[in-house]
Formats: sequence, C-alpha cells, structure tokens
Amino acid sequence: MNSFAFYNPTKLIFGKDEVEKLKEEIPQYGKKVLLVYGGGSIKRNGLYDRVTGLLKEIDAEVHELSGVEPNPRISTVRRGVEICKNEGIEVLLAVGGGSVIDCTKAVAAGAKYDGDAWDLVTKKAAAEEALPFGTVLTLAATGSEMNAGSVITNWETHEKYGWGSPAVFPKFSILDPQNTFTVPRDQTIYGMVDMMSHVFEQYFHNATHTPLQDRLCESTLKTVIETAPQLLDNLESYEHRETILYSGTIALNGMLQMGYRGDWATHNIEHAVSAVYDIPHAGGLAILFPNWMRHNIDVNPARFAQMAVRVFDVDPEGKTDKEIGLEGIDKLSAFWSSLGAPSKLADYDINDENIDVMADKAMANGEFGYFSSLKHEDVKAILKASL
Ligand code: NZQ
Ligand code: ZN
Repeated sequence: MNSFAFYNPTKLIFGKDEVEKLKEEIPQYGKKVLLVYGGGSIKRNGLYDRVTGLLKEIDAEVHELSGVEPNPRISTVRRGVEICKNEGIEVLLAVGGGSVIDCTKAVAAGAKYDGDAWDLVTKKAAAEEALPFGTVLTLAATGSEMNAGSVITNWETHEKYGWGSPAVFPKFSILDPQNTFTVPRDQTIYGMVDMMSHVFEQYFHNATHTPLQDRLCESTLKTVIETAPQLLDNLESYEHRETILYSGTIALNGMLQMGYRGDWATHNIEHAVSAVYDIPHAGGLAILFPNWMRHNIDVNPARFAQMAVRVFDVDPEGKTDKEIGLEGIDKLSAFWSSLGAPSKLADYDINDENIDVMADKAMANGEFGYFSSLKHEDVKAILKASL
C-alpha cells in the first residue's frame, strides 16, 4: 500500500432516538440555525416536527431552506447563501438524504465566500472555511454524512460536479435507522447500489498488497448483498435498516480508502449522464458500473477474479482470471436486476442521441480514472454498451 494520512473529524451519533442529541450538539455552534431540507418527506413522516420541537426547546432562532432537489442545484445553494448572509446564520442543520447534505455543504462554504458559490464547485476558488453544520440523515446511500464531498448541479448549463474541502466535514451526524423507515422501495434500492458502487470505486486501484483493505471492502459488499433482499421484504425492519445505514457510512467515510487512490471514473460518467437527463444517481451507476468493469477487465484480470470469487462466490475451477472476473460481473448485474435496479439507459428512455454530449461533459477536465485512465473513446464505448 502507499503512504497515507487519514482525517475524519465528524462525530457520528448512531442509534434509536438519538435525534434528541441535537439539544446538546447545536448549542455548541450557535443559536441562529438554518434548517435545510428537501421536498417534504420529513414533513410527511413527522421528523420535521420532532426536529423543530427540539430546536424550540433550546430556544434556537430557526430559518429554513426547503425544497432542496434530488441532484441539488446551485440555484438552491445561492438561495441558502443569501439567507445565511442576510440573517447572520451561525450553524446549519441538514435533515435529509445526500442531496440535502451536499446542498448544505455548499451553502455553508458559500456563506464564507465573497463570490458566487459555483466557483467553489468548479474549483475556480477553494473552499477554505465554512459555517459549522450538522446532519440528521434520512437515507442510507451517499456517505455524505461523514465525508467532505458534495455534488452540485447547474441546471442552466447542464453541469454536475463533485467538489470537496476539509472545511465541509459535518461537525456531527445523527443516524437513527427509524428515520429511514419511510424511504420508498426505489430509493432504498438506489441507496444500496450507490454504497456498493462506492466500494467498487475504491476496490479497483493500482496499489499492491492491500489485504486488509480488500477484505474490508469485500465484507462491506457481502453485508449489503446479504441484507438487501431481506430489507426489501420488510422495509420497516429496524435491524436491516440499521445494517444498511451503517454500511452506507462505512462505504464512503475514508475508512476503505487508506493506502491507495480509488478509481472514481464511473461516478464521473454518471454525473455527466445525470447532468443531461436528471436521473437518480444510483440508477445511472447500476447501468454503468458493470459496463465500466467489462471495459476495464484486461487492466488487471486477477483483481476482478478476486472480487468474483470472494464476493460473488464464483467457482474458479478450470477458468482463466478473465473468465472468472466476467462471471462475477454478470453476477453483479443479475443481483442488481433482482433488486429492481435499472440495467440499461433505455430504462430511462435515453438513446444514443446525446452520447457525444455526455462523453464531452465527462471529459470536461481531461482523462480521468485512477485504476484505468479513460479517454473520450473509452467513455463513449462504456455509454454505448449501456444503451
Ligand atoms: O426531498 P425529500 O422530500 O426529502 O425526498 C427525498 C428524495 O426525493 C427522498 N427521501 C429521503 N429520505 C427519505 C425520503 N423519502 C422518504 N423517507 C425518507 N426518510 O429520497 C429522494 C432522494 O433523496 P436524495 O437525497 O437525492 O438521495 P441520495 O441520498 O441518494 O443523494 C443523491 C445525491 O448525492 C450525490 C448524488 O450525485 C446525488 O446528487 N452524491 C453525493 C456524494 C457525497 N457527497 O459523498 C457521493 C455520491 O456518490 C453521490 O454522487
Ligand atoms: Zn455515489
């Protein structure tokens, strides 16, 4: 493995009814709170009332930024920055999924930046400081609750980029599995595909001798694979929601990426697809990832074979690494399809019309992918195979 430094200051508060801890956490950062949430799921399931009740108990002055979109938009971030600047907000509280948290990160950094927050997303300027913020997570998927990344879309220009800064680690994140009971079936599936994809992005790297990291990745994948069908049979199972919620955080809080750099090309291609078509992030990943794998299997067939044998129980007897790896990829596709995830772009009515546009957007910053560096023609080939 390579040299590394691990830094993650987010305080993770996990368990039943732990939302009560808001009363201890928020006052550490201030009284003027910007409550950030999405399209209304927290109003329908009662979490809004619970959170605002707790904020009232600590005499917080609460302002709101609501209506954060799935695939959060820079226009909403700008609205939030304006509230922070006009009202002298001291601390932000994101209550929602990855989109709400990502938006909150951009607002928190934008509030401390003189120019337009889009500069931070495009990396024209670095986010050096940010207002403090905490989260109450309602959807297991992105890991945003315990990382310093954020993904923001500019719908005017059809651009979607990831950005990050140590300044935007949440100060605390409260994860109560009960708050994920109402996540609908499709979003539950997407969340599990997303966290598995995060593991794959990190599993495919070029460092050698990473035995513990490999097994941490493989056991995270196996845990999700084992739990997913059981959770889909009973969406209100506390134990299964708990396992998946914890898996989502572990998959992308930096724990699995010590000692090497993950690939992350598939995420980049997906962001280009959803910048043009506004499809759910993990719907795109479910379609693209098996095709990224098939496209890159020759880079290191042994790595794919290891995944196939250890994660998907492929029998290696009498087969080449490539054959074993391809069987593993087929098993992954079959598993995601069995959950109900999409498997081709046509499932979202996407045809070959904008393949070049999507490939151009993916190439906006040049070749990408650390396991396998992709050129325009590679991206096109992966997109074509995904039609
Ligand atoms: O908006 P509301 O009404 O809250 O509804 C949301 C939304 O429609 C709903 N939902 C969330 N919690 C719920 C619930 N519905 C019922 N009950 C609950 N408890 O679910 C829908 C999707 O929510 P969203 O936050 O968009 O999903 P997710 O957490 O998958 O986030 C996706 C976004 O995160 C980015 C993606 O690109 C996408 O923009 N990512 C962020 C990453 C990061 N910061 O590290 C990494 C990821 O790879 C990803 O790219
Ligand atoms: Zn993702």
